[in-house]
Amino acid sequence: MVDEPILRLDHVTKQFPGVRALHDVHMALYPGQVTALLGENGAGKSTIVKILTGIYRPDAGAIHIGGKLQSFSSPRDAWRSGVSAIHQETVMFDDLTVAENIFMGHMPLRSGKRIDWQLMNARAAELLKSVDADFGSEVLLKRLGVAQKHLVEIARALSHDSRIVIMDEPTSALSAREISDLFLIIAQLKAEGRAILFISHKFDEIFRVADRWVCLRDGEHVGEGLIKDVEPRGLVKLMVGRPIDQVFPKKKIEIGEPVLEVVGLSNPTEFADVSFTLHKGEILGFYGLVGAGRSETMQALFGVSKATAGVVKLNGKTLAISSTADAIVSGIAYVPEDRQVQGTVLPFGIRENTTLASLHQHTDKGILSRVSEQKITRKLGGRLSVKAAHWEQRLNELSGGNQQKVVIAKWLATSPKILILDEPTKGIDVGSKAAVHEFMGELASEGLAVILISSELPEIMGMADRIMVMHEGRIVKNFTRAEATAEAIVTAATGGGHHAAA
Ligand SMILES: Nc1ncnc2c1ncn2[C@@H]1O[C@H](COP(=O)(O)OP(=O)(O)OP(=O)(O)O)[C@@H](O)[C@H]1O
Ligand SMILES: [Mg+2]
Repeated sequence: MVDEPILRLDHVTKQFPGVRALHDVHMALYPGQVTALLGENGAGKSTIVKILTGIYRPDAGAIHIGGKLQSFSSPRDAWRSGVSAIHQETVMFDDLTVAENIFMGHMPLRSGKRIDWQLMNARAAELLKSVDADFGSEVLLKRLGVAQKHLVEIARALSHDSRIVIMDEPTSALSAREISDLFLIIAQLKAEGRAILFISHKFDEIFRVADRWVCLRDGEHVGEGLIKDVEPRGLVKLMVGRPIDQVFPKKKIEIGEPVLEVVGLSNPTEFADVSFTLHKGEILGFYGLVGAGRSETMQALFGVSKATAGVVKLNGKTLAISSTADAIVSGIAYVPEDRQVQGTVLPFGIRENTTLASLHQHTDKGILSRVSEQKITRKLGGRLSVKAAHWEQRLNELSGGNQQKVVIAKWLATSPKILILDEPTKGIDVGSKAAVHEFMGELASEGLAVILISSELPEIMGMADRIMVMHEGRIVKNFTRAEATAEAIVTAATGGGHHAAA
C-alpha cells in the first residue's frame, strides 16, 4: 500500500526583496514518519517552516492537510489546523512562567472567560513530565538554561496535540543526553501517528531519526527519497551541488612561542584551577560535555564575567581584564556560542554588524570610512561564504546559519591575536563548515592563536593541535593530536579519566 501524506505542499514560491527564497517547491509529510529537510544555509528550510506555521504567506502554491486546502493567515490558524513548530529562533517570554509560555495564546479557560490557572499549571506539569524536564511549570522562564528553554518549546508544541510537528534545528542547544531524550520523544510522536518535519545540519542525527528526506538547493526542490536508500555522501553532493571532502584541512604549522598563559583560573561556581598555555599558530581544542565550564572559563578570559583567582599572562605580561573592552584592546576575540543573544544587532545590516567591534580601525580623524568597512565586510563575508542579497542587508533577513557567519566575521574583523571560537560551526552547513575550517587553519598559519571549543569530536580531533578535556569545571586531561583517541577523550569528558589526570 502506498502511504497517504497527511500534509502536502505544492508549487510553493516565496520571494523576498532581492531573494527568491522558494521556487515551485513541493513536499509531503506522512503520518508516523520523520521527514528530514536538508539544504545549505539559506536554502529555504526555515522559510518553509514559517509558511507551514502561518508566519509567512506564500506568493503562490498550496498547502493541503488531510486532503483539505488550507490558507493560514496567522500562527493560530496553523496550530488550529494541526501544525506546530519548534522554531530555529525561539520566541518566548522571559518574564512569564513556563506554563504561561507553553499555553500562550491558548490558555485553558474556566466557564469560557477566565483563565484556569490551576488546570493550566497541571497540564503544563504533565507535558513537562513527558519531556523529562527537571523543572516545574510555575518557574519563570528566565531562570532556565538554553537546553531547558528548548524543552519548554517542545512541551509547547506538544500542548497543541498537533498531527504535524516541525522541528527546526531542535538539537543545536542540547547536550548529547538531551538529544537522546529528544529522539525518544520523537519516537513516541511517531508511534502516535504524528508526522514530523526535522531540520538539522548534523548527518548523524538525520540518519538516526529520519525515515525520509527532501533536499532544497537555492530555494528549489532538488531531490527526495527514503533514508534507507541513501548515503551521507550523496546527500551532501545534492545539497551543495558538488562533492565535498569532509576531511579536515589541517595544515602543518610551526607552533611558535607562548602568547597566552593561564594559571589557576577559578571562580566560585563554574570552573576551578584552569591552567594552560596557548602558542602562536596553535589551535588549542577544549572538549567537554555541556556544562563542563568551557564557555564560562573563556568568558572570564574575555571579560564577560570575573575570575576570582588565577593569573593570565599575555606575551609574558600579566593581564588585568575587567571588561570585554579590555580584552578587545589586548587582542582577544571571543565568538560566543549563543550568537542570537550575545553576538548581533539584528535590525542592523551585515556591514554594520561586521565592523561593530572594530570601528576604530575604520575611523580616520573621527570619520568612519564606509569604503574601508565595505572592504573588510566583502573579504570576510566572502571567505565565510555568507549568503545574502547584498552587504547592507539586515541581519534579521538572513538565514540562521548566515547570521552566525556574520558574528564570526565581526570578531575576525578585530584582527585579534587570540581568537576564541565557541562551537563555531554549530548550525552551519557542511560546505560552509569546510570553508570555516580552512580559514581557521589559514589564520593559524598567519600566527593567530586559536582556542576552539567544540562538542563535535570529529571537529576537535580534526582541527586541534592539542586537546584539553574539561569535566565539572576542571581540566581533567590533555592530549596531543597524536595521542588523542575518541574513546580516551569521551572517557575523560565523562569523568572517567579524573584520577589519572593529576
Ligand atoms: N524576512 C526576510 N527578508 C528577506 N530575506 C529573507 C527573509 N527571511 C529569509 N530570507 C532569505 O531567504 C533565504 C532562505 O532563508 P531560510 O531562513 O529559509 O534559510 P535556511 O535554509 O533555514 O538556512 P539556515 O540553515 O541557515 O537556517 C535566505 O537567502 C534569506 O536571506
Ligand atoms: Mg533556518
